[in-house]
Amino acid sequence: MADVVPFADVHLDAVLDLCRRQGWPSLPDDPDRARRALRAPGVTTVVALDDERVVGFAQVLSDGEIQGYLALLLVADDMRGRGIGTELVRGAHALAGGLRVDVLSEELSSGFYERFTHRVMPGYRIYPSAPGRA
Ligand SMILES: CC(C)(COP(=O)(O)OP(=O)(O)OC[C@H]1O[C@@H](n2cnc3c(N)ncnc32)[C@H](O)[C@@H]1OP(=O)(O)O)[C@@H](O)C(=O)NCCC(=O)NCCS
Repeated sequence: MADVVPFADVHLDAVLDLCRRQGWPSLPDDPDRARRALRAPGVTTVVALDDERVVGFAQVLSDGEIQGYLALLLVADDMRGRGIGTELVRGAHALAGGLRVDVLSEELSSGFYERFTHRVMPGYRIYPSAPGRA
C-alpha cells in the first residue's frame, strides 16, 4: 500500500509526468501554473508514494467545512487496482475537510466512484468566458 502525503514542490515533475502519460495536458502545458494550481488557497493536493516514487495524486477544492470537489485523480497505469485511488480520495478528503465530495466522472471511471456511498446528479463542465447561448 502506498503512503498518501501532502503534495510538495519536489513532487511536481512526477505529477506532470503522470499527466503526460495519461494524455492530460492542462497541468504539463505550464509547470509554473500547475505548481500554483496544486498549492492554491482552498486546494488540497496529495500524492501517493511507493517508496520514493510518486504513483498517483489527487486534487480537492474545498471550503473545509461542507463542500469539496474532486478535481483531479490519477494513478500510474502499472499501479492501478491496488487500492491507491481509494486511498487518495480518502486522504485528500480527510486533509481538506468538509462533509462530502462532488466529482465529474469520465464514463470509464464511473464504476470506481460508484463503490463509494454516493448520489448520482447531472454534472456539467461549463466555459463561461466562451461564446454560448448564456
Ligand atoms: C480511476 C482510478 C483513479 C482508480 O485508481 P485505482 O488505484 O486503480 O483504484 P482502486 O485500486 O482504489 O480501486 C478500487 C476498486 O475500484 C475498482 N475500479 C478501479 N477503477 C475502476 C473503473 N475505472 N471502473 C470500475 N471499477 C474500477 C477496482 O477494481 C477496485 O475494486 P475491488 O476493490 O473490488 O478490487 C485509476 O484507474 C486512474 O487513474 N484512471 C485514469 C484516470 C482517471 O480516469 N481518473 C478519474 C477521472 S474522473
